[in-house]
Amino acid sequence: MDPTSQKLVHSFGALADLGQEIANTREFNEMVRTSLHLLLGTLAIRRGAVAHCLPGEEQVACLAVWGLGEEFESRLTINATERQAFLTSGLSDLSKDTGNPHFTEFFSRHREELTSQEIELVIPMVVRGELTGLVLLGGKASGEPFTEDDLEVIRAMVRHIGVGIHTHRLFDQVEQRAEENRRLYDDLRAIYRDTVRAFAAAIDIKDKYTQGHSERVGKYSEIIAREMGWPDEEVEGIAIAGYLHDIGKLVVERDIINAPYKIDAKQSSELNRHPAAGFEILSPIHHPYADIPLMARYHHERIDGRGYPDGLSGEEIPLGARIVSLADSFDAMTTDRPYKTRRIFCVVIEDFRRNTGKQFDCQVVLALCRALLKEMNGTGTDRRMTKMLGKNYLEAERDTPLINQLISELDPNQQAAAATSSV
Ligand SMILES: [Fe+2]
Repeated sequence: MDPTSQKLVHSFGALADLGQEIANTREFNEMVRTSLHLLLGTLAIRRGAVAHCLPGEEQVACLAVWGLGEEFESRLTINATERQAFLTSGLSDLSKDTGNPHFTEFFSRHREELTSQEIELVIPMVVRGELTGLVLLGGKASGEPFTEDDLEVIRAMVRHIGVGIHTHRLFDQVEQRAEENRRLYDDLRAIYRDTVRAFAAAIDIKDKYTQGHSERVGKYSEIIAREMGWPDEEVEGIAIAGYLHDIGKLVVERDIINAPYKIDAKQSSELNRHPAAGFEILSPIHHPYADIPLMARYHHERIDGRGYPDGLSGEEIPLGARIVSLADSFDAMTTDRPYKTRRIFCVVIEDFRRNTGKQFDCQVVLALCRALLKEMNGTGTDRRMTKMLGKNYLEAERDTPLINQLISELDPNQQAAAATSSV
């Protein structure tokens, strides 16, 4: 192979290596350093640096240096008109007078620094019509001058490096915007959650006997859904549904909601409007979580089809609504009302036993029981239910066997396991 062809193959190989280096997205500074080494190595140049120019900034900062001393820091500055001159120049040889007054100004300002570092070439990195940075190069180790072919190779390699830096900046910008969007989204979610809690408080204020009911239903629903293995997003959604499940009560007369006695049939049918009214209120709102209006509409449906407003049964009722329904009933049973005191825990368990499969969904009851057990035996992450129920309501020694017994009656897997072990 003749020397020219050999040189071409060598340059082509160096360009391929450089392309690969830049495409490899590992650490940015490392990429720039290796690219500079490849460029210097290809033409046996002793020293050089890669510096970048940030939009709107005059300072030219070094990203990588080689052979200029560890301490080398670029003191180069570039103003707007000089930038413009570099955009059209392609390559600037310090030994030649380009005649461009802006170059003259740039080089006369920096001649001392550049010549003291034995820099011979200043090559602009131009990508998409913008000056990304400058590559500073010393002379060849052989002392020979750069040939036109050398300069072609240098231009091609510098273009590669420029694209690498430009791409990195784009990634950075995209990441920054994504971060900003994440923050905005988090803010919006926080605002949404606060608004929902304010609504829940407004609902509960209307009903003076069930203070904090909506908030507790939200929390119980969240705990049950988490116990059932729902993903975080959906758990957050069902908590919101719990907070808002009784929002329809806002359109029911205050006297009926606050009646300190058992209400009559007419008042009862007025009160029973609230799930459908809640659906009407919530439907036009764009919620970040699906099905919140449906959970409000169906929270008084029953598994056996004897609920309201639509008399749905079994799996026709969305699972979220079955969860809110149990959370709602559990809170109603475990808090004092004007016409009745709350039930003791064994009576609640008895209610679950009697009504699972009729009023309540079996899987949902099991999840509530398991979450209660975890709190009582200390394997849960917190004791939120215990706190909501009050300090002396549950007693681990007395109530754990009750829950275990109900779980073994309701859980088909446990029954199957028991049957297998008894054979
Ligand atoms: Fe309700």
